[in-house]
Amino acid sequence: MGKKLKRLFSGIQPTGEIHIGNYQGAIKQWVKLIDKYECFYCIVDYHAITIEYNVREMPDKILKTAVCLIACGLNPEKCVLFVQSHVPEHTELAWVLNTVTAIGDLQRMTQFKEKSQQHKGNVNVGLFTYPVLQAADIILYKADVVPVGEDQFQHVELSRRIARKFNALYGKTFPEPQHLSTESPRIIGLDGQYKMSKSRNNYIGILESDEIIWEKISRAVTDPARKTKKDPGNPEICNMYSLHKLYSSREEIENSAENCKKASWGCLDCKRILWKNIVESLKPIKQKANELENNIDYVHNILKENADKSRKIAKETMNEVREKLGILI
Ligand code: TRP
Repeated sequence: MGKKLKRLFSGIQPTGEIHIGNYQGAIKQWVKLIDKYECFYCIVDYHAITIEYNVREMPDKILKTAVCLIACGLNPEKCVLFVQSHVPEHTELAWVLNTVTAIGDLQRMTQFKEKSQQHKGNVNVGLFTYPVLQAADIILYKADVVPVGEDQFQHVELSRRIARKFNALYGKTFPEPQHLSTESPRIIGLDGQYKMSKSRNNYIGILESDEIIWEKISRAVTDPARKTKKDPGNPEICNMYSLHKLYSSREEIENSAENCKKASWGCLDCKRILWKNIVESLKPIKQKANELENNIDYVHNILKENADKSRKIAKETMNEVREKLGILI
């Protein structure tokens, strides 16, 4: 046995099939981190119900998210991949943490402000205390680091505040978790404007067919100033060029930039190369996902076994928490 690894926790919403923005922005890094940390990766279904969702589709979405994560390389024998609601201690700890969280702290959360704008008809208390459940997710395992994109830094910072407050009131119990910046680079969607996301429908799903991916890429926004094939383009402001940098060979990247600037290639010429490379890179992922879909009992089993592993730690933490709170055990 080598030296004890630091513990890592991160969560992902059960959106079902993940997209290349999730993959490039987060999952690819998650896979690399498996060797460096003791990793817990959680599909956060209880977070997902804070906004309106389709009940009938939810079970499949949770499973599909798991399938995609495993297919992308999160080997469930080397990390603990599990579903949040399978470990009820998450919500139990969240209740306790509610009592050490200031309302004012939750009111200034950017994501809460944004989401309450987007879902005006359903600004529920769960949406408000979402960051408290997130803090519970993390500190339940006494995680040291949390790999997240920039939009989650504020939540991780709040988790630290909550841990600190609990420790101050009841005695040292939780380490203060640090964020580990993953989202480099930030992946912009096919609209060339917003972060790639399912809700904006500007994404390429990792399991989509080659044909659909071509349809999407061929319609994707490029340099907006380039009106026709004859205008020289500016790769630096073209989102397709950013994707090239992730998927194409150095030679292809240079060629695309040069031919774009000289207007000797049209956008479609450049997009065809990008398409070929994206499709190629997704091949093994699709194949693995297909195998898993055909053996879904295995996926169910893995999720169950991993939830058991998490739960063992979760129970220990909750016992310690109850004791610290002076609650009769
Ligand atoms: N809020 C995170 C997101 O939307 C998901 C999440 C839930 C999370 N719990 C977490 C991320 C704990 C990191 C750690 O992306």
